[in-house]
Amino acid sequence: MEAPMTKTIVNSWNEWDPLKHVIVGRADDCHIPPEEPALDAKVPEDSDMRGQWGRRPQETIDRANELLDNFASMLEKRGVRVDRPTPIDHSLPATTPDFHTESQFGCMPPRDVLLTVGSEMLEATMSYRCRWFEYLNYRPLMQQYFNEDPNFRHESAPKPRLTDADYHPDYLSEKIGEAKRLEWAAKKFFVTTEEEPLFDAADVLRFGRDLVVQHGFTTNLKGIEWLRRHFPDHRVHTVNFPGDPYPIHIDATFTPLRPGLILNNPHRRLPEEQRKMYNDNGWEIVDAAGPAHNSPPPLCYSSTWLSMNVLVLDPKTVCVEKSEVYQAEQMDKLGMEVVEVDLRDAYAFGGGLHCCTADVYREGVCEDYFP
Ligand code: NVA
Repeated sequence: MEAPMTKTIVNSWNEWDPLKHVIVGRADDCHIPPEEPALDAKVPEDSDMRGQWGRRPQETIDRANELLDNFASMLEKRGVRVDRPTPIDHSLPATTPDFHTESQFGCMPPRDVLLTVGSEMLEATMSYRCRWFEYLNYRPLMQQYFNEDPNFRHESAPKPRLTDADYHPDYLSEKIGEAKRLEWAAKKFFVTTEEEPLFDAADVLRFGRDLVVQHGFTTNLKGIEWLRRHFPDHRVHTVNFPGDPYPIHIDATFTPLRPGLILNNPHRRLPEEQRKMYNDNGWEIVDAAGPAHNSPPPLCYSSTWLSMNVLVLDPKTVCVEKSEVYQAEQMDKLGMEVVEVDLRDAYAFGGGLHCCTADVYREGVCEDYFP
């Protein structure tokens, strides 16, 4: 007879409680996917990524994996259980009855795909065609948690069709220009339409009973409404950061460090009218220190603001990328112990320390921080 399942494996309600179990991504077989609407809209016009696609050079994959492995070992030494995805073959096309794209992306950033809320891990719809099957990299882990934890809820949001109706053709010119992009962002006119619910998990931040979700390129209002209906015991808040011409993923823009304290990208400030719940409850929103670099590393989708894409280990301890000296200094002044992690050569594979992880277990329960 099989032993009864009694263990809680999955539990995480916010971004800061003591971290005990996490998934760290891998760079294996990562591809720069071919052109497609939502991805093109995100690649800056002067980026070295434009017009390139194919498997990333092996030496860069090896280097990124070395850094991710070192990060995983460091976490294990601090007592955190670390799991890793099982990479699928990302060179295979993604084809459904509705679309075809020649290759997939990778599994370096689990945070983009998996949203952990309490005992649930939710696979996001995703909004890029090349990322439609990305959840498969994590299915062996989901099965394992399902077998081990009787309360684990494995959920998957409705897979979107991702036809051309999901994307505004206005965004598909290469030469839109930043001024136009900012004007559109201010009007909340993004590349994705409201055809069907779309969201990436990395547009969501967890504050106990409250979920804060960025409306932008990768998450539309229907996606946020879907989350609201899916989590009826939560309050779901829509946020916008009009200073961001490429608004995807909230975690280089708004970074909660502990109850009462959030870092905000000074180029992408949360508008005054969206600050009420923080002001009313005595939360401080401080400008993040600037990045230490003037440009992202080669073939990287993200901005230099991965400086603030940190992983909080507990309300007093935070992992900061090793070269991000100004961010580390600011953390120190804010009373956080800084753990330096060398990750910059892995940024191109999908982001920083927050992106390349997904919570499985943090101590603590669901609290109401904004009563
Ligand atoms: N919008 C982000 C993505 C960060 C994970 C950026 O600044 O590039």
